[in-house]
Amino acid sequence: MLNGKVLDGKALSAKVREEVKEKVNAFVGRHGRPPGLDVILVGENPASVVYTRNKERTAKEVGIRGALHTLPGTTTEAELLHKIDELNRDPNVDGILVQLPLPKHINEERVLDAIDAGKDVDGFHHVNTGLLSSGRSALVPCTPIGCMRLLAESGISLDGAHAVVLGRSNIVGKPVAQLLLKENATVTIAHSRTRDLPALCRTADVLVAAVGRPELVRGDWVKPGAVVIDVGINRIERDGKFVLVGDVAFDEVKEVASAVTPVPGGVGPMTIAYLLSNTVDAATARLSRLVRHKGVFLEAAR
Ligand code: GUN
Repeated sequence: MLNGKVLDGKALSAKVREEVKEKVNAFVGRHGRPPGLDVILVGENPASVVYTRNKERTAKEVGIRGALHTLPGTTTEAELLHKIDELNRDPNVDGILVQLPLPKHINEERVLDAIDAGKDVDGFHHVNTGLLSSGRSALVPCTPIGCMRLLAESGISLDGAHAVVLGRSNIVGKPVAQLLLKENATVTIAHSRTRDLPALCRTADVLVAAVGRPELVRGDWVKPGAVVIDVGINRIERDGKFVLVGDVAFDEVKEVASAVTPVPGGVGPMTIAYLLSNTVDAATARLSRLVRHKGVFLEAAR
């Protein structure tokens, strides 16, 4: 999916969705029902409204049962925890995703930890983050897996490469660093307090930008031939119009890098594709655990 130097996440995500569709069909053949993904949105953050609708719609396109639960911004933490508990207990729910950010009056950690770790398709539950950091199999956050698939597509060898990750968020920076480490890259995590960011970035064979700062990474921050993955989605006003730009100055970086992801059409579509992939994987793993431990229950659930 390399179009010149541009890593086409839109085309690659279509391929991943086809792979997921096949797994969904096999799951339906085996269990007599589709995998189910339930998305919870609290409040009306405009970006979150768009993202959650896309998640529900794309799930349905690959044959997953998708449901979007929209709760008012005044929902209390107890009410949200009650909803999660209901979904945790429902045998037809395989994946639960609570869209972030949550309203200020709700404690994000308590909410994420309330989700059944086996249904945590975001990979944000402390059990899954712990498994990932000890290099064991887990449900892994979707954007980082999407970044890794794009890197695989670029053809770069990560073994011994220097990977610089800009940003230390739980959603992207930390988990993508773990995945790069697992592939034997030498990983540096940089953040807002890092000294001389441009000089550090110039040492990177792989640069992953996930800081939410429009076009922070300039052409002269990039080592010739490096691969650059842009996770940022920033809405800015330019020439009187609103446009989406990443954390990377695409036109400049494209001249220096061996491959770079565009915004939009790079990492974004990969995130949704891997959310669907995680949903089928979670469903398959959960039901196979039920088979092993509670054969009778699975027969009843079919
Ligand atoms: N908000 C921004 N990115 C994400 C994500 O990957 N998952 C959830 N749940 N919320 C988000």
